[in-house]
Amino acid sequence: MRALCVGLVAVALIGSACGQDKKAATITIKAPERGHKDTIVKVDGVEVKESEGTWTFTTPALEAGKEYTFKVEALIEPNNYTKITRPREVTVKAGDAVKLDLTTEDKKLDKIVVRWVPTPDDIVDEMAKLAKIGKDDVIFDPGCGDAVMLIRPVKKLGAKKGIGIDIDPQMVKKAQDKAKTEGVSEKVVIKEGDILNEKDMAICAEASVVLIYIGDDLGARMAPVLQKLLKPGTRVVSHRFRLGDWKPEKTLTVRGADGDDYVLHYWVVKEKDKK
Ligand SMILES: C[S@@+](CC[C@H](N)C(=O)[O-])C[C@H]1O[C@@H](n2cnc3c(N)ncnc32)[C@H](O)[C@@H]1O
Repeated sequence: MRALCVGLVAVALIGSACGQDKKAATITIKAPERGHKDTIVKVDGVEVKESEGTWTFTTPALEAGKEYTFKVEALIEPNNYTKITRPREVTVKAGDAVKLDLTTEDKKLDKIVVRWVPTPDDIVDEMAKLAKIGKDDVIFDPGCGDAVMLIRPVKKLGAKKGIGIDIDPQMVKKAQDKAKTEGVSEKVVIKEGDILNEKDMAICAEASVVLIYIGDDLGARMAPVLQKLLKPGTRVVSHRFRLGDWKPEKTLTVRGADGDDYVLHYWVVKEKDKK
C-alpha cells in the first residue's frame, strides 16, 4: 500500500514537472466588425481570426495559480479617412474563459488618426464668409493639413494671424513651406501637436475664429476642449462634420466650384458652453 501511494505521488510530481497541469485560457473579444475595412484584432501583436463577429484567442498553456496579462488591440477603420486604435489589457489564469468588449470607446486610451483631405479653396472662402472673417481675426485650425484654412484668410482677407496644429510632422513642414511661398510666414504659425492633448490645444485661446475639417470621431472628442478653451464670442465653422452633441446655430449647404455640395456648420461660443 505504502509503495502504491509513493508511486502515485511520484506520478503526480512527474506530471506537474512535465506541465501536464498547465492549461490554456481563452479570451473572447467583441469589437466593431466592419467599417470602411474589416476590423483587425491583435493579441500581443499577433492577429486573431474573426468568426461570426467575435475573435477568440487561446493562450499557450499557463501554469496554474499564476496571472498572465495580454495586450489586446483593435484596429478600426470606420471610414476611409479615420483609423482608431483601441488598446486594452486583460489578465487571465490557467483555464479561464474571459470576455472582452471592445465595442465602446475609452477616451483616455483610444487613438484616433484622420488622414489629410484638403478643403477646396472656394469652400475655405465660404467658411470665411460664414465666420465673417476680418482684419482683426486670429484664426485657429486644429488639424491644419497644408494650412489652406489659415493662409487664404490671411492673404485674401488680411486676417491678423493664423495658428495651426497638426499631428503629422510632414504636414507641419508642408504647411510652413506653403506659408513661406505664399509670403505669409510671419502671420501664419504652424506647430506639431495633437488635438486630443489639451496642452497642445491651449494655443487656441488666442483665436477669434476656428475653422475645422476633422471627422466625426475627432470632432466629438475635441468639442469639450474647444468649449473649455475658446473665448466667449469665438466663431467656429466646421466643414461637413458636427462637433459631438454641441448643437450648431446654423447649418447650410454650399455648391462648390467642382459642382459638389458642401455642408458647413456654425457655432458661436457662449459663456454657458464653457465647461
Ligand atoms: C481632413 S484633414 C484637414 C486639413 C485642413 N484643415 C483642411 O481642411 O484642408 C485633417 C488633418 O488633421 C490632421 N490630424 C489628424 N489627427 C490629428 C490629431 N489628433 N491632432 C492634430 N492633427 C491631426 C491630419 O494630419 C490632417 O492633416
